[in-house]
Formats: sequence, structure tokens, C-alpha cells
Amino acid sequence: MRSFSLWVPIAFAAVVFAVPAKDCAHKVKERVPPPRGWTKSAPAPADHIIELRIALPQPKFSELEQHLYEVSDPFGTRYGQHLSKEEVESLIAPEPESIHLVNEWLASHGLIEENLSRSPAKDWVIVKVPVSLAEEMLKTEYHVWTHDASGDAVVRTTAYSIPEHLDDHVELIQPTTSFSRFRNLKTSFRINDAQEKSALIPADAPPISVPSASGGHVDASCNQTITITCLLELYNAVGFKASAHNGNQIGITGYLEQFANKHDLQLFYADQRPDALNSSFKTILINGGENNQTLSEAGAEANLDTQFAYGLTFPTPGTFFSTGGRPPFKPDTLTPSDTNEPYSEWLDFVLAQKTLPQTISTSYADDEQTVPVSFAKRVCNGFAQLGARGVSLMFSSGDGGVGDGEEDPALQQCFTNDGRNVTRFVLSVPRVPFVTAVGGTIHIPETAVFFSGGGFSDVFPRPAYQELAVSKFLDTLAPGTYKGLFNPNGRAIPDVAAQADLFRIFLSGRPVSIGGTSAAAPTFSGIVSLLNSARLSKGLPPLGFLNPLIYTIHALEASAFNDITVGNNPGCGTPGFNATKGWDPVTGVGTPNFGKLKDIVTLDLLHIPGL
Ligand SMILES: *[C@@H]1O[C@H](CO)[C@@H](O)[C@H](O)[C@H]1NC(C)=O
Ligand SMILES: *[C@@H]1O[C@H](CO)[C@@H](O)[C@H](O)[C@H]1NC(C)=O
Ligand SMILES: *[C@@H]1O[C@H](CO)[C@@H](O)[C@H](O)[C@H]1NC(C)=O
Ligand SMILES: *[C@@H]1O[C@H](CO)[C@@H](O)[C@H](O)[C@H]1NC(C)=O
Ligand SMILES: *[C@@H]1O[C@H](CO)[C@@H](O)[C@H](O)[C@H]1NC(C)=O
Ligand SMILES: *[C@@H]1O[C@H](CO)[C@@H](O)[C@H](O)[C@H]1NC(C)=O
Repeated sequence: MRSFSLWVPIAFAAVVFAVPAKDCAHKVKERVPPPRGWTKSAPAPADHIIELRIALPQPKFSELEQHLYEVSDPFGTRYGQHLSKEEVESLIAPEPESIHLVNEWLASHGLIEENLSRSPAKDWVIVKVPVSLAEEMLKTEYHVWTHDASGDAVVRTTAYSIPEHLDDHVELIQPTTSFSRFRNLKTSFRINDAQEKSALIPADAPPISVPSASGGHVDASCNQTITITCLLELYNAVGFKASAHNGNQIGITGYLEQFANKHDLQLFYADQRPDALNSSFKTILINGGENNQTLSEAGAEANLDTQFAYGLTFPTPGTFFSTGGRPPFKPDTLTPSDTNEPYSEWLDFVLAQKTLPQTISTSYADDEQTVPVSFAKRVCNGFAQLGARGVSLMFSSGDGGVGDGEEDPALQQCFTNDGRNVTRFVLSVPRVPFVTAVGGTIHIPETAVFFSGGGFSDVFPRPAYQELAVSKFLDTLAPGTYKGLFNPNGRAIPDVAAQADLFRIFLSGRPVSIGGTSAAAPTFSGIVSLLNSARLSKGLPPLGFLNPLIYTIHALEASAFNDITVGNNPGCGTPGFNATKGWDPVTGVGTPNFGKLKDIVTLDLLHIPGL
């Protein structure tokens, strides 16, 4: 039954092969070259349980995408008229025939409705099965694969097949060929040097004036220690009062057993936001996510994200989503499940909710080339559904400059993963067109921080909303620059930027200085949430999917963003790209000027002078 791998040509998936008569003919659905940086070891134990996610095609997805762009186009007549949960689901639903045929196939392997769970739109079927059954269903063989650099292990295969008659009714099945490694994006994590740092600046140093606000300034200490006050001043948001009661909410996602500690939050508030003392946030546990409030278990990433996002937006109600499940498992301890990259678990949960926070920030990523294209697209479609429902999604742009986010240059893997082994810039997520990617700055006046992730997707083509801004940048590159290292026609990131280093947070009871585009995403999200608060208080709908608005404002009212023109983002042994006038693949269109953005988004967008 497994002999097919010996003779099916490697390059193309669409090959039918002979099978014993009692089986129906199978067809290879997906085949990947052995992933670079991983070593195949023993066959997976037959009784190891895996959770198969089966994607049924979404034949009306392009209609959903059209709705998404219509309700997100600030010049469109439908701007802000977001879709309901039910409307989105009807545009995502598979054909009844697909559901029927897949059910029939599952039933032939003894899997009945009781064994299955389904996403709200029924476009995903999820079933826990032992490896032995998965191998039979997919005519494949699972192995334990070990990640060379970290020692992490996963149960995966490099090819799988499904019955031929299901080819048009199943888009993909995972975990099979996905070798992604999910990680959070904090880079420069330094315990307890917070006091030393601020001591470097004399107490009587004059304030630094900032270009964004007329006559605005920040305290001199902000050049070495970023606090809530620094950000409110720098981004021209001092004095704005968010509402606790207009329905506005902000959400932070947490993965990888990161817990946001409530005691640390109070210490942070006492330090930086005394009026928020005693306020807290709601934690939602997803897919076995945990919430261990023991002080020593506090997560640096989760504390950073929540302290700054909630601190910037107080008294806006905050939610922390703690999603469990991560791909690698320890082959010796045989954990009971070996899940997919956890974005899909989170999406299953939030898409099933009637009401959602209007602004959600994520500071976790995996590398683009480690996620199969089919899977990346489906996860991306999940983000589009949230956008259509009026949710703004912010993601950190990555901490490896144009490289893969490995801090140690010796570990950087600047090669394609397609078997050709050619040198290539690599991107972390999110190069997805339907989310807003946030790059990083440092110091005041702001310059690009060296680790700010940026570049061009090999998977997603450049969306229309950024065509003008990105092609202007490409025109500034000397002919032949980095030829072959990036795809000039790809979705370009980041879209925007915010401060990303020297943040003062509290962790396990102590002040800590921390950095990464991990810090930039909750910061930019905080500003977006304040904009949403201003809109909701005026009876206007939330901003939803931001990118068409961001690039429109940038084209017509560029001063609503602080253009970053100094710095670059080295990686893969190159100096990376330069921050330039206008959009660039280091800091996007720049950092936000809240005051100006608020004026724009709380007026009737169609009648702003100049817009
Ligand atoms: C499917 O559900 C049935 C009935 O609850 C159960 O007996 C069977 O063990 C389940 N199969 C699997 C693979 O979990
Ligand atoms: C902030 O710090 C940077 C880096 O040390 C320095 O170049 C810059 O001049 C400082 N800004 C001010 C206003 O002193
Ligand atoms: C927080 O609670 C403490 C103890 O109940 C109280 O003394 C303090 O005034 C409260 N602070 C705020 C800002 O509400
Ligand atoms: C929380 O973490 C502490 C310290 O690591 C541990 O002793 C405790 O068992 C954990 N609690 C739960 C509910 O997991
Ligand atoms: C790919 O190329 C790099 C650099 O030339 C080399 O170090 C590595 O061994 C190659 N890997 C494979 C699998 O050919
Ligand atoms: C970045 O700017 C430097 C200095 O102007 C220039 O030499 C270099 O070619 C630029 N790099 C790119 C990728 O454009």
C-alpha cells in the first residue's frame, strides 16, 4: 500500500496510481520535498493520535472577498457596512455535495458524525484518529521528524493522497505536509536593566520635540525607556478619553503557553497608568489553552502585549485569548495530540462567536515557506472572514529583517524550501493580504529598528490597495537590486510601524526592558482601538479591515503617518532594504498620528477636504 512513493514522479501531485481492487483509486493531493532543517526518524507510533483537519472547498470565497473590499473601501458606498456572522458563513459554506461525499468517505473508515467536529460554516471537518487509521485513509506513512536546530519533533509525512472522486471536494488535509514552527516574536529580552537604562538620561534633560503633533514633545527618558505616556505623546493621543461603555473592545491573542499575569498588570498600572489600577481583563481559553496565574508562570510575550494594549486603551474592555496546542511534540513522552499551527484553532473559536473585539493584536508567527501554500491560503481566508465582520487584525511583521527571524545569523535559513535550495529572503507571517502587518521603530526621533521584518510574499500577489505605494518604492531601487532574492510582485509588508524596543513592562513582579515587533503590534493596535472608540462613540461602525483605508490616507493625507526615512533591516547576509520617503519594506507608511487619523475617521470620510 505504500509502494507508490517509489515510483510516483516527485515534481507533480496530479498522478494516479494503481491500488488494490478493493480500494477506490487514490490521487496524490500534495507532495513536498523533504523539508530543510528537519531529519526524518522513526515511523510514527501507530496509536499516536492526530487531529486531522479536512478543508472542504469554499466555492463562493471570491464573493466574500469582493464584499470585504467593498465594505473596507473608504470611497465606496458600502464603507463600514460589515457582514453578519450568518452572512459570512453563507459565503464560506461548501457545496452540500462536498459535505455528503466526504461524510461517505469518513463513514467508510468507521468515522461517523459523533466522531467529527465542524467549523460554523462546515468548511472544516476535524477528526481525531490514530496514526494507523490516518495512514490508511491517506495512503501514506507518517514519521517522526526532528527539527535539527531545536530538537522539536512532529509527526508528519511528505505526501498524502485521497480517493480520486474527492479531489474536487477536499482542498487539503493537515497535519500532513506542514512543517511550520510557530514562535513569538520578542527579540531583545533583558531582565531588570530597566532602571539602569533610564539612569543614563539626566533627570533635567530637556523634552524632545516630536514632529507628529503641533508643539508636541516627549520626555527625554523616552529615548531609552518606552512607557504608556511616551507612546501617547509620541503618537499624539494625549487627552483622548476612550469609552468603557460604547461597545468597543480590544483583544490580544496568546499561544505557546503564554499567560498574561494579572498581578504584573497591576504593578504595571501603578508604574505607568495609575488611573487604570484595579481594572482587569477577560481571559478566554481555547483548545486546551491554560491560564496559570502563578507569578513565575507569567509569559513575557503575553505580559508585554496585554500591558501595553490595555494600558493604551484603558478603560476599553480587554480580552486575552489563550489558545493551546502547538505542533511539536516530544517523541519520548508521546503527548496525546499533535496539532496544526494554532491559528486555525483560534479561528474556529472566534468565527463561532457572535460578537468580537473590533481590534485584535497577534505577535506570533511562523515562516512563510514552512507552511504549505494551500494551508496558508485557507488560514488567510479565515482572516478575511473576520475583516468582513468588521474586525481589524494587527500582526507583528517579524524580527529577522529580511531574514527568517532566527536571531543567530548562523542559524538563519535564507534558502528556498522547495528542493531547489536557492538563496532567498524569507518572511515570517503575516504576508496575508487581509491583515495589517506592523514593523518596528526605535528612538526619538524615530528610525527603523534593525530587526523590523519586511519584504515580499512568494505566495500572495500584491493586492491593489498597495500597488501605488509599493511600486513607487520599487522604482527607487537601483536596477538589479537583490535580483532573485525576492518577488517584486508579491504582497509587501509591513503596512505600518510603531515603537518596538526598550519597552518597560512588569514580569514576575519585576520591571523588565523588552523589545521586538511583538511590542509594535499591540502598540499600533492600541491606537486603532482608540480610533474605533472615537467612531463607536459617534455612532459610526468600526474600521474593520484597515489596509485599503491606510493606503488611501497615506496617498491623500500623508501627514497622518510619521514617515520613517532612516534605518534598514539586514538579514540573510545583506543590509536588507532601506527606510525611505514614502512606503518601504522596513516601516511601511510609518507610525501613526492619532490626532490626525481621528479627525479623518470620525468625519464623513467622503467629504474630508483633500480626501
Ligand atoms: C467514533 O465514535 C464511536 C461512537 O461513539 C466510537 O465507538 C468510536 O471509537 C469512534 N471512533 C474513533 C476513531 O474515535
Ligand atoms: C536618542 O537616542 C539615539 C540613539 O542613541 C540618538 O541618536 C538620538 O540623538 C537621541 N535623541 C535625542 C533627541 O537625543
Ligand atoms: C484600587 O483598590 C484599592 C483597594 O481596594 C483602593 O485603595 C484604590 O483606591 C483603588 N484604586 C483605584 C484607582 O481605583
Ligand atoms: C502553575 O504553575 C506552578 C509553578 O510552575 C505549578 O506548580 C502549578 O502546578 C501550576 N498550576 C496549574 C493549575 O497548572
Ligand atoms: C544548500 O546550500 C547551502 C549553501 O550553499 C549549503 O550549505 C547546504 O548544504 C545546501 N543544502 C542542501 C540540502 O543541498
Ligand atoms: C540603501 O542606502 C544606501 C546609502 O544610500 C545605498 O548605498 C544602498 O544601495 C541602499 N540599499 C538598497 C537596497 O537600496
